Amino acid sequence: MVWEYYNGKTVFITGGTGFIGTVLLYRLLSQSSPERVYVLCRGGQKKAQEKWSNMLPEVAASVLTQNPRVTVFDGEVGDTATMNLSEDTLQMLKQTVHIVFHASSSIQLNNSLRELAYSVMAPTLCLTRYAMKFPKLERFVFFSTAYANAHLWKDHESTDVPVDERVYPLSNEEDGYQSAPDAWSEVQKNGSSDEYDAHDFPWPYAYAKHLAERLVLHKASEQNKLDKILIIRPSVLGPADKFPYHGFATAYGAPSTACAAAYMLHPGRKITLATRCKNPDQESTIDEVPVDVVADRTLVHVALGTSGCVHAVSGEQGRLTTEEWWHAFKKERLIPWNARPTWTSDNWHSPNLHQIARKFKIIGTSFAFSEQRTVEVLEKLGASEKKNLHLFTDRSKPYSLYLRRHHIHHQAVEVARKNKWPLFSARLLCRKGKNVPQIEKTAVA
Ligand SMILES: NC(=O)c1ccc[n+]([C@@H]2O[C@H](COP(=O)([O-])OP(=O)(O)OC[C@H]3O[C@@H](n4cnc5c(N)ncnc54)[C@H](OP(=O)(O)O)[C@@H]3O)[C@@H](O)[C@H]2O)c1
Repeated sequence: MVWEYYNGKTVFITGGTGFIGTVLLYRLLSQSSPERVYVLCRGGQKKAQEKWSNMLPEVAASVLTQNPRVTVFDGEVGDTATMNLSEDTLQMLKQTVHIVFHASSSIQLNNSLRELAYSVMAPTLCLTRYAMKFPKLERFVFFSTAYANAHLWKDHESTDVPVDERVYPLSNEEDGYQSAPDAWSEVQKNGSSDEYDAHDFPWPYAYAKHLAERLVLHKASEQNKLDKILIIRPSVLGPADKFPYHGFATAYGAPSTACAAAYMLHPGRKITLATRCKNPDQESTIDEVPVDVVADRTLVHVALGTSGCVHAVSGEQGRLTTEEWWHAFKKERLIPWNARPTWTSDNWHSPNLHQIARKFKIIGTSFAFSEQRTVEVLEKLGASEKKNLHLFTDRSKPYSLYLRRHHIHHQAVEVARKNKWPLFSARLLCRKGKNVPQIEKTAVA
């Protein structure tokens, strides 16, 4: 039912050479036979082939690079719908595409709203406007983030904030998106908006995604096409559990790898983090989701016709406590003195925090992201279909950072270089690992 849905379909994807995009295309092309897959990539065919070949082992890369159904266009999203494509190409896409996956985005958390207007909001709005004209459009998928609603942490007193798969309005409106065009005008004019100033988002990026979601919904509602919109909200991406192989990640795709690299080089014993939890080691959590769970959830929800917001997360069952994460971290740090969190009640923007906590800010919080819509969709799938899908995080084994050693080491070297510390500090403190993928034969069937 799921994979058959894609047979004969024409797909257009932005961000197809990124972390999520690569796994999504890998799953789609290794399991079904779409009529054609058009990939938008800055640098075109050559760059896309180079990226896929560098990040994947040969057999998995060939699913993407040797596939006659895949066409890569050299273009980029921006503040016009043309994407640097020719008029003929734009017309062809308009007439043929059934499904759009919009996965390209800046993921610079702390870029200003002015910058994010041109790297997140405007491209998303332009692409939605264009896609709403496709006569054959079945689904427009926008990749947002579960932390688009992270301002709820400050709006609640609880130490575990529930987040549902819906839009949380920032003002007194029912549907949450009617105010989006006004807020967007304000952002374009002033580089901020009243609703942004009225809520404490951890980063401008979180608000940029919140507003982009609402702009997509508003544009679709104008065309009576709300049922065509699917908003996928991943939490913190982590390496794959299964597909294309256990441990697959891109060098910079998994944010907690960057945390590990920065903590590895921490010279003292105390790492200052902020929280309002009484027992932060046990109460604060990290929702890290394997990238293949995100890809499979997306593909299943599209195939089964879901619209609206869907969380692609590990959820209450699969998220980690800070203590569990820290335990895994300690196993990777070579020097045996015990660098460990020291908790303060400072604000998440406080300058007193460790630089990685100042960057990521959600360390020390806890969100209970609902996964209800995926639980419901699961009931519609047959047993054999469920077997070949990876919809929930597997926490049957203890959490480990072992398979990303090579990326932690690589990023630690970069941290050292940036801070003008001796490069041998990275060698001294991080365990060295090899990127040796173990491709499951069935995954490339
Ligand atoms: N990483 C996370 O932990 C995380 C968590 C939650 C949500 N998300 C969201 O999930 C989506 C995918 O994230 P990801 O981690 O897969 O990102 P990624 O690995 O950084 O990939 C982003 C992709 O977007 C492309 N891109 C960026 N700007 C572009 C532009 N102007 N025009 C065309 N292509 C452009 C990049 O291509 P080139 O640079 O090769 O051109 C790259 O292929 C994003 O919307 C992100 O916000 C990510």
